[in-house]
Amino acid sequence: MAVKKITQRWLYNSFLVILVILCSFVVVFSFGLRGYYYNSVSHAVKQRAGANETLLLTYSQDSTIDLPLQIRHMVEDFSDKDKIEMMAIDNQGRVFITSSGFEPDASLEMPDYKLARESSNGIGEFRGNVSGEEIYAVTYLSPVNSDELSAFRYVTSLSKVNHQIMFFIILIISIGIAIIFFVIMSSSYFISSIVNPVSSIGETARRIAQGDLKARLTKTHDDELGDLCDIINHMAEELQTTENMKNEFISSVSHELRTPLAAIKGWGETILSDKEMDRETMDKGMQVIIKETQRLSSMVEELLDFSRLQSGNLKMNMGKLDIVAEIEDVVLMYTERAKRENIQLIWNETDSFFIVYGDVNRLRQVLVNIIDNAIKYSDSGDTVTVSIAQQDENILITIRDTGIGISAVDLPQVKNKFYKANSTRRGSGIGLAVADEIIAMHGGSLSLDSIQGEGTTVTITLPLYKEKKNQQ
Ligand SMILES: Nc1ncnc2c1ncn2[C@@H]1O[C@H](COP(=O)(O)OP(=O)(O)O)[C@@H](O)[C@H]1O
Ligand SMILES: [Mg+2]
Repeated sequence: MAVKKITQRWLYNSFLVILVILCSFVVVFSFGLRGYYYNSVSHAVKQRAGANETLLLTYSQDSTIDLPLQIRHMVEDFSDKDKIEMMAIDNQGRVFITSSGFEPDASLEMPDYKLARESSNGIGEFRGNVSGEEIYAVTYLSPVNSDELSAFRYVTSLSKVNHQIMFFIILIISIGIAIIFFVIMSSSYFISSIVNPVSSIGETARRIAQGDLKARLTKTHDDELGDLCDIINHMAEELQTTENMKNEFISSVSHELRTPLAAIKGWGETILSDKEMDRETMDKGMQVIIKETQRLSSMVEELLDFSRLQSGNLKMNMGKLDIVAEIEDVVLMYTERAKRENIQLIWNETDSFFIVYGDVNRLRQVLVNIIDNAIKYSDSGDTVTVSIAQQDENILITIRDTGIGISAVDLPQVKNKFYKANSTRRGSGIGLAVADEIIAMHGGSLSLDSIQGEGTTVTITLPLYKEKKNQQ
């Protein structure tokens, strides 16, 4: 399909134009050449005729000269008689002597002689076929009043000239055909050098579209087509990564959902079947059920937020808030868990009072996410330090941990949705993506610094609230 179309376009756009130009050139050249040759023949003949006319006038002025004899000499000794036949015509319009030496033919047709007699300058020209041969003839009426001579006539055959013209026309047509042949050869090479890679690119792109994400193109040219190959390969790689991430996400989310569900189911069944269960065990079971339910609901919330974020439906409920109070609250919330996991959670208290303009629940959610990560990706004995400071018009919240850290390869990616640098710990891989987006919606930024094996520092920058903002 593509082959046909590109070839067709080439045929219309370039080949036809070249063909028309070449044909016009051949036609113009042929006519020009013919005109040029015929003109030179006519010019040469007229030059001889002019010279003879002058000679005749000179003779006529000299009374000692025998004019009829001189005329005979002039015709018989005509210097170009091998190419041009010179004739002398008498007053009856009959050729009485010719340079060819043959007996003059009385029945000879002489249209140019007739024309000369009718014309005002006494010159008549004729070009055409006479007894099967193309000739050029010109008649000059005699400028001298003579009893015998009425005109000189010059005749030359055009067959040699016509052969010459024919030769050149055939030559130029052959050159034209050679050019067309060359154009067709080089263009078909050029077209196939585009069309063939394009159809193989199309073939691979189709395979990728049909789900064969492992299909790759081999780059054969280092040009625009090569670039196209690179782009398509890159696209396929990205698709492959997204596909892998999606699969991993589904499996990790399923796992995340299954673990608390198993605990809830297990405890539920135990409580139901054991009628004599003591109060303490039952309370413990109930606590697990509540905790796991909470985990499930927060996970579902996270997923819902993520889906709202993707569709652009995440609404912000903005207002003035004391960010220090929120941090303290979240730290307090995690103190129990940190202690349990033998992780030191330190809050660098401050006397300052920082007000930001934002959605209190969303910002809490971000803090929960980041502190949760810090604890989750730390081991027993590690420390998590939360602090706040002012920098110009912004506040900086830093959450530093001495946990497992993130490798330099993963670091630029961890903010991407579904990206998990570490699959040994539970998580959906969307926490940082959501947090980053929420902070961006507050006009701030979220950055990560990490050294693998040493720990991670997350810095949240938020603009300080300014009175102006509230005046609207
Ligand atoms: N404090 C941290 N220490 C080490 N790795 C971290 C930390 N915070 C985030 N990460 C890495 O970044 C990834 C993405 O984090 P996140 O989006 O919160 O996903 P999740 O917590 O569900 O795995 C994590 O899977 C983890 O590999
Ligand atoms: Mg997380």
